[in-house]
Amino acid sequence: MTLTWKDGYTTGVAELDEQHRQIFELVNALGVLIERGIYDSPEVENRLAALGDEIRQHFTLEEGCMARHACPMARKNKDEHEQLERAFLDFLSEFSEAKSLALLEGFHRSAEGWLLEHICFVDIHLRSCVNKGLG
Ligand SMILES: [Fe+2]
Repeated sequence: MTLTWKDGYTTGVAELDEQHRQIFELVNALGVLIERGIYDSPEVENRLAALGDEIRQHFTLEEGCMARHACPMARKNKDEHEQLERAFLDFLSEFSEAKSLALLEGFHRSAEGWLLEHICFVDIHLRSCVNKGLG
């Protein structure tokens, strides 16, 4: 699948939405490499490194926004971010030891699913908090 941005994904914070779009682009770019059967290449390493950097920056900013706006989902958001970061690190160490297209595909598919579910069920709750002008 290709991740496509929808207006319904907005968090009410333009910078966070822009980061979500960036993350979609990085995940989609990784998907293009996978479709071409590329997994053991500096291109893949670069995409994974960029994705890791973008995710870390994004999580920090988003967690700060949720705390500032007293979003009731702040705790759940942080917990899910930590789970994703652990899963990402586990994948990276497994992948560095034994590269395979199947492993990369599995990570890619779960990252797509995680992103859509997390944005739709957790991140978008920030919107009503921002709109209320809390914090
Ligand atoms: Fe989040």
